[in-house]
Amino acid sequence: MNLRFSASRGIGGAMTPPPDKSVTHRALLLAAVAQGVSRIANPLATGDCLSTRSCLRALGVSVEGDPGARAWLVTGRGLRGLAEPPEVLDAQNSGTTMRLLCGLLAGQPLHAVLTGDASLRARPMLRVVEPLRAMGARIEGRDGGRLAPLALLAGSGTLRALRYDLPVPSAQVKSALLLAALRAAGESSLGGALDSRDHTERLLGFLGLPLNREAGRLRIAPPLSLPAFELEVPGDPSSAAFFLAAALVSGRELEVTGCGLNPTRLGFVRVLSRMGARLEQLPEGQSGGEPVGRLRLLPGNLAAVTVEAGEVPALIDEIPLIAVLAAFARGRTVVRGAGELKHKESDRLQAIGRLLEAVGGRVELAGDGFAVEGPQSLRGGAVDSGGDHRMAMAAAVLGAGIPGGVEVRGFEAAAVSFPDFLATFRALGGVAE
Ligand code: S3P
Repeated sequence: MNLRFSASRGIGGAMTPPPDKSVTHRALLLAAVAQGVSRIANPLATGDCLSTRSCLRALGVSVEGDPGARAWLVTGRGLRGLAEPPEVLDAQNSGTTMRLLCGLLAGQPLHAVLTGDASLRARPMLRVVEPLRAMGARIEGRDGGRLAPLALLAGSGTLRALRYDLPVPSAQVKSALLLAALRAAGESSLGGALDSRDHTERLLGFLGLPLNREAGRLRIAPPLSLPAFELEVPGDPSSAAFFLAAALVSGRELEVTGCGLNPTRLGFVRVLSRMGARLEQLPEGQSGGEPVGRLRLLPGNLAAVTVEAGEVPALIDEIPLIAVLAAFARGRTVVRGAGELKHKESDRLQAIGRLLEAVGGRVELAGDGFAVEGPQSLRGGAVDSGGDHRMAMAAAVLGAGIPGGVEVRGFEAAAVSFPDFLATFRALGGVAE
């Protein structure tokens, strides 16, 4: 699907983001191994999360409710009760599905084969495979386990406790190891790069398994079982980010309601404030251990910003938007320590370069980051999404700030995390034709 995105009067008003992708995955996975029937209200019923849902069904988990239902009812099979899948598990485009399932299935007494689309089959898997092997799991894959398809060979059901320092700040790796640690023979301890999104830790705490984080280590003792639970998935701050950015490039106000306000996800909001936006966080409650509330944005003159490596995990998915905003901001924006972008649904560092060049802009790419000198004089152009949902939507946001707009080829990729993006874009004043 090719669409030209523009906005003659700008983008602004009020919106509620779609349900959080990361929280929906985790709620499904933990409900699958809980004891009893869990109720997940407001699940993200699209792309990535539907992959997790269908993989769980193939593992014998009952998930009631159509994709469009208000809530899904998941009948858990307990920590050791998953059934051997009679078919290959297809994570499609979803890294979270593949990596977290590796943790959930490692060492279980069943054979499972996990695959995905061409993008996922090119993404690094050794980061989960190696520590899971150290726990006693037998996992094979292409190139020594570096690439999917991955074959998980049947184990005894129990794993060795793990002591491991994460080399990369990846929530997917951390979560996979926490899920595996639920069935380990003793307390596991993780250290190293732990400061990534903490939804798994929060959800486990909500289920009565508080994790101890002290002196830079996260400790988890295996429970006898996990209870069934009910939660309402909050709105996804990473999806809200597209409209915060679109409002900023068009100089309008935006109110975001029903949004997750987990600080490990709000690095982008903090950067926007440093760039000169006036942004208020208005917490209103909690759901499943997650703070939820409103964000209110008043536009301001955008100034350049420097983003250091330590901030990257809390805004990893929003970096393409920082590049877009940098083209409108006065001064030199620098992003460092973002090498992980090369391993996303596409190589997002290269994709950022292509996006700004397509509209006559310029990005200086470094090994693990980039610099953008702004403001740049941009003209209308066309760019391909490369099948990457976040690049498709970042390109649409760019279109909202340029007189000629931006044509996005392959825009259907956006549905992976934001199925109603188009309707929201139009409702808030944008044009997509
Ligand atoms: C996610 C973690 C991040 C993020 C992805 C979702 C998760 O990936 O980019 O969109 O739900 O755990 P990494 O863990 O690979 O950084």
